Amino acid sequence: MSHLDNTPSTPGKFKMEKSPYVHNRLRWHSSLAKLTCWSFMFLGLILIFFFRSPSSNPLPQDPSRRSLRTYNWGGPVWEKRVRSSARIRSRNGNGISVLVTGAAGFVGTHVSAALKRRGDGVLGLDNFNDYYDPSLKRARQALLERSGVFIVEGDINDSGLLRKLLEVVAFTHVMHLAAQAGVRYAMENPASYVHSNIAGFVSLLEICKSANPQPAIVWASSSSVYGLNTKVPFSERDTTDQPASLYAATKKAGEEIAHTYNHIYGLSLTGLRFFTVYGPWGRPDMAYFFFTRDILKGKSISIFEAANHGTVARDFTYIDDIVKGCLGALDTAEKSTGSGGKKKGPAQLRVYNLGNTSPVPVSDLVSILERLLKVNAKRSIMKLPRNGDVQFTHANISLAQRELGYKPETDLQTGLKKFVRWYLSYYSGGKKAAG
Ligand SMILES: NC(=O)c1ccc[n+]([C@@H]2O[C@H](COP(=O)([O-])OP(=O)(O)OC[C@H]3O[C@@H](n4cnc5c(N)ncnc54)[C@H](O)[C@@H]3O)[C@@H](O)[C@H]2O)c1
Repeated sequence: MSHLDNTPSTPGKFKMEKSPYVHNRLRWHSSLAKLTCWSFMFLGLILIFFFRSPSSNPLPQDPSRRSLRTYNWGGPVWEKRVRSSARIRSRNGNGISVLVTGAAGFVGTHVSAALKRRGDGVLGLDNFNDYYDPSLKRARQALLERSGVFIVEGDINDSGLLRKLLEVVAFTHVMHLAAQAGVRYAMENPASYVHSNIAGFVSLLEICKSANPQPAIVWASSSSVYGLNTKVPFSERDTTDQPASLYAATKKAGEEIAHTYNHIYGLSLTGLRFFTVYGPWGRPDMAYFFFTRDILKGKSISIFEAANHGTVARDFTYIDDIVKGCLGALDTAEKSTGSGGKKKGPAQLRVYNLGNTSPVPVSDLVSILERLLKVNAKRSIMKLPRNGDVQFTHANISLAQRELGYKPETDLQTGLKKFVRWYLSYYSGGKKAAG
């Protein structure tokens, strides 16, 4: 307390020696103290503003904020790249020009590459989110760039960007694969499913319906829409009103939303229900991928079994078969009938299963991986948690066979061999950390 007792209550009451030197020094000291005090206050305010400002958080927890991220797009150089990537190169007048959303994703990369190979125009769009290792998405982007496919970095919720893209290029088709995938992640981050699978889909359809000409749209639904209590094999005629996860519910909502836009605006829409797709450049959040990683690391892997030791099985479908199904859907898609937001007549609305038709128990998948990797897995058997996964999937593909010429050709053993070869070379014998 003593130093406070010596301090005058007001500066004017401070008695001092009359020496000019002391006087000047005291004045100088007091100004310096004031300046320091104000500087600290100013700095404090800046810090408070900085730490309380939501935009200062580099990884926002709310995924819907991803749409607020600003991406660089626009300008003559950018437009030139967009046009060049989307230009049809060959195919004797049958070429199509496709906007592929989710092009840096697993399926999107393969579909884009296949379209480009046969001479179609392809432009990618992806927001490169960090649901799984974005460096894998960047590596896929580099792969596509080498074959002449440009991926625009942006969100499907950015209607300004979508409008611009459809102004710059008169796309004949949109292959819509951008989505929040994965069943279990929905319990961690439910908003990301609403953001990408519902709001994003509506945002895309809104822009497509107003375009002139309207493109035909093929989009990825999922086998998850079959949900609980559907009898196998799953057929497109089965009801899909008991989704087992939020992911499934958003995919189901997508199918209903598609119906609405087809009905009101004459958009041609085809939904593809993919069944557990696997292969090179796959997704690190999927079992075949992280089992491979964990077996190689000597970590134990959890294999689920249903009640009463029931087998959990999946209709694993190889990526090349899925790509053929996607191309078949694009090639048979009829034109949308509306223009500029007005329907001119009824338009095509379709849904197909794209599966392999031979479900394999997950424990068999592990045995195949053990043989290919020449490492024994440390298996730990666990009860299938009730958080969105179903016990069994099995596709009836006769509709896709008849109408799209879809015919899966790769069995799990052959497909996994190709995946493992890619995995080992990509991660250079485990030097790079996977996923
Ligand atoms: N792989 C499978 O086994 C499987 C099974 C059933 C359905 N599907 C569906 O197929 C589609 C493709 O799946 P995938 O396995 O390639 O998944 P993926 O996660 O590898 O690809 C999706 C891509 O979309 C992008 N994306 C997500 N939200 C976006 C947004 N709002 N704006 C722009 N880009 C966005 C992501 O960055 C990602 O690159 C998805 O619709 C998925 O639900 C996949």
